[in-house]
Amino acid sequence: MLLLSLCAVFSTASLASAASLWVPTTPQSPRPYALKKGDGIKLPGGNTFPVTGNSSGNAFCILNTNADGSPVPGAGVFPHVHRKTYENFYTVKGRVQLWGQNFDSYVSNTSVQQTRVLGQGDIGAIPFNTIHTFSLLEPDTQLTGVLVPGGFEEFFFNMNVSPSPEPGSGGFNISELAKWDVYPQLDFVPRQDVVNGKAGPGNWHDGANELPEDMSAPIWVARNYGPKWLTEAGGRYQIVTPFVTGQQTNGTFSQGTITLSPGSPAKAPVVKSEVATAFMVEEGQLDVTVDGYDPISLIDGDVVFVPGNTSFTYAAGAEFTKFMYVTGGGKGLDYELMEAGKPWNSAMYPQAEAASGMAKGRMFRI
Ligand SMILES: *[C@@H]1O[C@H](CO)[C@@H](O)[C@H](O)[C@H]1NC(C)=O
Ligand SMILES: *[C@@H]1O[C@H](CO)[C@@H](O)[C@H](O)[C@H]1NC(C)=O
Ligand SMILES: *[C@@H]1O[C@H](CO)[C@@H](O)[C@H](O)[C@H]1NC(C)=O
Ligand SMILES: *[C@@H]1O[C@H](CO)[C@@H](O)[C@H](O)[C@H]1NC(C)=O
Ligand SMILES: *[C@@H]1O[C@H](CO)[C@@H](O)[C@H](O)[C@H]1NC(C)=O
Repeated sequence: MLLLSLCAVFSTASLASAASLWVPTTPQSPRPYALKKGDGIKLPGGNTFPVTGNSSGNAFCILNTNADGSPVPGAGVFPHVHRKTYENFYTVKGRVQLWGQNFDSYVSNTSVQQTRVLGQGDIGAIPFNTIHTFSLLEPDTQLTGVLVPGGFEEFFFNMNVSPSPEPGSGGFNISELAKWDVYPQLDFVPRQDVVNGKAGPGNWHDGANELPEDMSAPIWVARNYGPKWLTEAGGRYQIVTPFVTGQQTNGTFSQGTITLSPGSPAKAPVVKSEVATAFMVEEGQLDVTVDGYDPISLIDGDVVFVPGNTSFTYAAGAEFTKFMYVTGGGKGLDYELMEAGKPWNSAMYPQAEAASGMAKGRMFRI
């Protein structure tokens, strides 16, 4: 008894001496860190940057836009292209309308413009060289942007507003935008014929949203209508729902969600990925440990960032803990989990009662 309580004292003391993962704002150089919901470098207008090029070694930027949208649909930003930056639009709450069309096939008139109304958990992925524009549609909308490579956000911090802007330019001096990888496409007319949340080819909430082979068109994945994988590695269930993998990003990054069954942090497998990993929690509680830091628990909206080649573990402290992930390459954590797993056609992991023979027998007797 005495020995045990002494051990407890010593282990508490050694934990107390470790560094904290929680930081008050986004760091200016790569390190493991965590931010509470809403924390991070901010700009006026509701933009918060929990991960930047500086904090991720230029792997990616995560930009949360929290704003009151307008119920009147219509593009809120002029249509434009990025030539180097891949930009994903993920709706955390509210509704966002996104339009997209590959630039070359728009010019040659060999593709059809697509638009989707994104609700909670829906994503539109805009590869570079894709014309796009978007609009926030609901009060209390959160749009989470993922921009790759990191560093594009310098545009938001450094752009100059023109004293005499051209019509439709959003206040910018259009000839100065190219240095920020922004190329306005003022001739592009966003279509306004949405029915059931979509216009243009492809399924939405009405059928399977398969991932394409390449990045020659916008990629749309409605919540739980995309491909899913289940893995039981490490003695817990994980459903991986990719939005983009290395296949759709030329190996530059990946993004999706993971749904995790509860488990002890002490038994969680150690992850060590060559590329950076970030999580943003959506449901439940995520217990994370990073080598050399105090263990932490994250809840809805909290973000954790782990640089490449850094060991960490994660475990769910509540049923159906779900988080968005971003990795800085095509072969990060999600790739490993899908390799270890199998295709899965449900948004739920197997439930203990339903899986046991006794429960099945009971159901059949009723
Ligand atoms: C990134 O770091 C550079 C160099 O220190 C600095 O000038 C820039 O303001 C930083 N960007 C952000 C978004 O913090
Ligand atoms: C583009 O192609 C569509 C369908 O083939 C056609 O109806 C339309 O007239 C074309 N537009 C232009 C500007 O050539
Ligand atoms: C826009 O930027 C260009 C290049 O920096 C400059 O020459 C021009 O005067 C600017 N125009 C306006 C209206 O600010
Ligand atoms: C894909 O990446 C390779 C090397 O990393 C590069 O040479 C190639 O141009 C890239 N392709 C596209 C479409 O960006
Ligand atoms: C991690 O280590 C690998 C192999 O040494 C290296 O190629 C990679 O660049 C490293 N990643 C980071 C983010 O430093």
